[in-house]
Amino acid sequence: MSTSTPNEPLIRLRGLRKRFGRHVALDGIDLDLGRGQIVGVVGPDGAGKTTLIRSLAGLLEIEAEEARVLGFDLRQDVTDLKAQTGYVPQAFSLQRDLSVRENLRFTARLHRLSDEEFETRSRELLERTGLAPFAGRAAGALSGGMKQKLAVSNALLTRPPLLLLDEPTAGVDVVARGDIWKLLERDREHMLVLMSTSYLDEAAACDRIVYLDDGRVVATGTPAELRAMVGLDLYRLWSDDPRAVAAAAARLEWVSGTRAGAQFARVEVPQAQSPAAPRVLAELGDLPGARLAEAVPLDMESALLALAREGAKTTATNAPAQAAGEGRRASGTVAGGGDGLEAKPIIAAHRLTKKFGDFTAVDALDIRVRPGTIFAFLGANGSGKSTTIRMLIGLLAPTAGEIEVDGIDVGHHPRRVRDHIGYMGQKVSLYQGLSLRENVEFYAGLYGLSGEQLERSWGALRERFSLAEVQDEKSEDLPAGIRQRAGLALATLHHPRVLFLDEPTAGVDVHNRNLFWELIQDEARGGTTVFVTTHFLEEVDYCDWVSFIDEGRLIADAEPEALRRQHSDGYRVVVEVPSDEIAARAAEALRRLGHRPAPAPGALVFLTPVLDGVLLAELRRICVDVRGAHVRIEQPEMTEIFRTVLLESAARRLAKEAA
Ligand SMILES: Nc1ncnc2c1ncn2[C@@H]1O[C@H](COP(=O)(O)OP(=O)(O)OP(=O)(O)O)[C@@H](O)[C@H]1O
Ligand SMILES: [Mg+2]
Repeated sequence: MSTSTPNEPLIRLRGLRKRFGRHVALDGIDLDLGRGQIVGVVGPDGAGKTTLIRSLAGLLEIEAEEARVLGFDLRQDVTDLKAQTGYVPQAFSLQRDLSVRENLRFTARLHRLSDEEFETRSRELLERTGLAPFAGRAAGALSGGMKQKLAVSNALLTRPPLLLLDEPTAGVDVVARGDIWKLLERDREHMLVLMSTSYLDEAAACDRIVYLDDGRVVATGTPAELRAMVGLDLYRLWSDDPRAVAAAAARLEWVSGTRAGAQFARVEVPQAQSPAAPRVLAELGDLPGARLAEAVPLDMESALLALAREGAKTTATNAPAQAAGEGRRASGTVAGGGDGLEAKPIIAAHRLTKKFGDFTAVDALDIRVRPGTIFAFLGANGSGKSTTIRMLIGLLAPTAGEIEVDGIDVGHHPRRVRDHIGYMGQKVSLYQGLSLRENVEFYAGLYGLSGEQLERSWGALRERFSLAEVQDEKSEDLPAGIRQRAGLALATLHHPRVLFLDEPTAGVDVHNRNLFWELIQDEARGGTTVFVTTHFLEEVDYCDWVSFIDEGRLIADAEPEALRRQHSDGYRVVVEVPSDEIAARAAEALRRLGHRPAPAPGALVFLTPVLDGVLLAELRRICVDVRGAHVRIEQPEMTEIFRTVLLESAARRLAKEAA
């Protein structure tokens, strides 16, 4: 029986523990959570997030001094609790053979929803998630992200007082994530939403975060409280060679962490050891190769990484050794405009088309990928990315079109391409029930590797990918980050020339995502071509080229920077200056470079399509010459570019239909 009173928290835990055999997954969790909020469960892979959510859903036997959810004691009969909870597990939760609509109806019947309520609610959810046109399609034939959206709709259908969502938006595109988030925000007044997520923007938007590590709650608070708690300052160091300046910055004694992006290195400085901002800016700006140092507000990425480092001090982690990255390809930046496509493409598809019945999933698509580059293949859920990949690697026969991969005509010889490529499928790449080592042997068999050759190849990968400790673990027991790293290792076992990675970082924590991209960039520097899909749009800056598709058609095709130029207002630069006189002088200097700075209170503001060396040098000169001058640069976010590209494509389609 529920004995919940209005003021009692919906979740109250004291000393909750969960053991699996000898392994302690949750180690004394204390938590009080009331209604009316979205709570993000965040932490490194393997921290216990899924176990916590499953315990709260009444699916696990737990030990505790106190464990009440919606007034039910988790240690007693929880049948009624389950009826009042909306739960989305990480694993597949749908009826494959039932259509989208039938899946929803199934849930409605289970929860005794009236027909009328079912009609209104399901119609709204299908509209909001963009699944309405596919209501009749079998759940098993949906794309990865579409399945996820259906699972979330199922959980939201009955408006339960408690929603437990385990990575509900893993693999969901940014537009749909926005829509799902709006639904949650609207309904939150009446409910408590507890969700795990690997997206930094979602963590930042939660009302409260519960940060787990090694089975314990390490920190809880609002996102702002968490950021303040870690006591860290963040700087950006703009450079033509972000890897080199990141490495140089890492050698400064007061720097605790660095990461190289496409145009700048992020540099983290703990406040306790910081020599104060002016000196930090001066010293970073003086590093060889640095163009401009900039102080930026601490973001979720740095906050979570700092919390993870705190946790790592007390626990052993299985993070791989930082990739050495001795120069193979000079830098991540690709020279010049569209000249690169002159080299013979290693992947070329011409008018590639796939129809399922009368539905066209891929529509006369042209793709060209230069050898040795990292090619980002983007698009909303169901736009045809996985279908395209399956055709490129000879798994699925195209309805029409030609494909050439590494000189092989895949249309005519689908089997021959297998030795040239490595493939990581969406979600599953390792066989469950087999240990990692057994998976290695299975894959080696496919590629005809054995004996000493296999040992040498696997031995090297095991070291590079830091997998030695886990090679005897069953693949389903591996945390997502390590499982994906192992998947990548397996895909490269036979030294393929082309790697196809379908959402390799979905559901992976931010630390492991960064490590994963280091490994991918190392592969590319070694000459491998990487064809990759992702819904973490910030990852696009690790790539040399971006192709966007929409409903199976190409809608944008360019380098990341060119896309920014074409589909945004450009960078917004704010120069804070201490006096009008200095503002006038700085404005004059900027005008000479062809910019149009506008005066704002205490600052100059302007937009620029590119941040070139000349401009960065001028900005730096202003900062160095003028005491109290600061520069802030706002870069157009890839998520915004993605939305814009999609909207532009939709507008073109409408105009065409009207004509
Ligand atoms: N066997 C099938 N029968 C019918 N439709 C299918 C089948 N396989 C895929 N589709 C449809 O083709 C479209 C493209 O699916 P695909 O998996 O390629 O999308 P995606 O771009 O990879 O999406 P996501 O980002 O969600 O992974 C979807 O509408 C999907 O439902
Ligand atoms: Mg897909």
